[in-house]
Amino acid sequence: MSNNRPIGIFDSGIGGLTVTRAIRKVLPNESLVYFGDTAHMPYGDKEQDDIQRFSISITEFLLNEKNCKAIVIACNTASAAAYETIRDRYRGEVPIISVIDPMIEEVINDLSVKRVGIIATRTTIKSGVYQRKFNRRKPELEYTALATPLLATMIEEGFYNNNVSTAVLDNYLSNKLLDGIDGLVLGCTHYPLIKHEIDSFYQGKVKIFDSAQVVANRLKHILEKEGLLADAKTQPDYFYVSELSESFEESTKIFFKEKIELEKADLWKTPD
Ligand code: DGL
Repeated sequence: MSNNRPIGIFDSGIGGLTVTRAIRKVLPNESLVYFGDTAHMPYGDKEQDDIQRFSISITEFLLNEKNCKAIVIACNTASAAAYETIRDRYRGEVPIISVIDPMIEEVINDLSVKRVGIIATRTTIKSGVYQRKFNRRKPELEYTALATPLLATMIEEGFYNNNVSTAVLDNYLSNKLLDGIDGLVLGCTHYPLIKHEIDSFYQGKVKIFDSAQVVANRLKHILEKEGLLADAKTQPDYFYVSELSESFEESTKIFFKEKIELEKADLWKTPD
């Protein structure tokens, strides 16, 4: 049994391309349709209701106009604010995969980790979703969560692997809240780009969990289980954004490691 319809992937902007790149490596036969909501980015400081509304419109676009067979919410903030809403709305239609649940599984199954830190946007940390899920799934695991709102914007502006990003990171990672951790969840799709810097800060002594690979593996497992794997790539990958600019196009190279052509898709005639 196979299914050659595309997989829909969305993010608040272009950070979700880190997840998309991992998916393309793990599932080379799959056709992908990406949507980055650059008109409303960043989601990291927005209210839950707004993020839910944006996420529903994007999912409708991917399902109704692009005929996607599965949806990956490649954004921690959208996963924290809107996963349950989207999952319940499309239950029984297509699999909906968040970036958070596969990460929770990965961390709780790692027996070497006893105290885990979570860094993410304000909205993700405020939602308490990681904290609640760790609590429920593995009560003996200690966790601590720190909002690191500057990081996503800093990376998007090209500040990583340089003295600016090192100074900002040192400041955040020296926060007392993160004392004594032996694992750190990168709870934002932008953070894989600063993974090496974080690793150097901890001199390799803290295990860093990065969602891109974990989510790609989880997606493969779900498609296999549901009989939805493609047997051949039948169309090119498409990359849509709600607002187009040269700097977004430039930044795609940072996240995807190659230049891609972005197309504008006007889901909201005037962004609200
Ligand atoms: N992509 C978002 C995330 O993973 C971060 C960027 C934003 O704030 O929109 O949380």
